[in-house]
Amino acid sequence: MEDFATELEKVQKTFKKRKVRIYKPHDTDFPELLITVPDSWKQIQLAPLYDVHYGSKEHDRALFTSHLKWIAETSDVLTFNGGDMFDNGNKIAPGASSTSQDVTPEEQLHDSVKILAPIQHKTLFYIPGNHEDRTLNAAGIDVSRVLADNLKLPYFPDYCFCTIKWRGNQFRLLAHHGSGGASTAGAQRNAARKDMPWAKFDILWTGHLHQPMADIAYQIDFDQKTGRVFERCSVVMISPSYLKYFGSYAAKKRLAPGMRGLGVIILQEDGRIDVSLHARGKRL
Ligand SMILES: [Fe+2]
Repeated sequence: MEDFATELEKVQKTFKKRKVRIYKPHDTDFPELLITVPDSWKQIQLAPLYDVHYGSKEHDRALFTSHLKWIAETSDVLTFNGGDMFDNGNKIAPGASSTSQDVTPEEQLHDSVKILAPIQHKTLFYIPGNHEDRTLNAAGIDVSRVLADNLKLPYFPDYCFCTIKWRGNQFRLLAHHGSGGASTAGAQRNAARKDMPWAKFDILWTGHLHQPMADIAYQIDFDQKTGRVFERCSVVMISPSYLKYFGSYAAKKRLAPGMRGLGVIILQEDGRIDVSLHARGKRL
């Protein structure tokens, strides 16, 4: 069997050429990133991976694999990693045990590099989730950062302020994994909006709760050049997860199940932001 270093070198050679420009300023106290998308693109589809939980026995591998293929094959899709990419169960984590996973945490980390390599050129940045943070909290080792480094991608330990420049627009994305618990619909909406008092954004994107939600916040802004006011409404979004419910920690704790999959936001030339979430199911 090849050692991981050799395997990693081979995987990194498969990375495709990036079509968007990513600039991470170093002379800053803020977790910021600037993205420039070619104006030849007709729209931008943002489809981040939140709460994939690779390695968990409840991970929906079939759905995740099909979405990964869609991201890889669709030309105008960009993604980022919103945390909890792998389940990373260990002794100190609530609900985690050797029986809750079918891949060891070390293999989860190594496998994730290989799984995500085909979309490396479409991935803007990495932020960790509380599941990756289990190793950070227990041993001071940030495994999410190791994953981002192996994939040669910008990494931020909590928030990422990301400006996407395209066709004269500057879309302001603020991403975080999300934190804390919220079991009722109202509490989830409040949890998703938590950064509104202090942060300005066009899209505030979290996951963590495994309860997809899109909330449009009406907002007025001032044009700093002219002093005139204009509408600049924003989207507060919670992505779904790729975790099945029954047999999971969530079911044990009676945290309600949520639809699995991707949340997608489409950025339009006129500044409009469209949201796409799915309620799949049979209608018998
Ligand atoms: Fe999660």
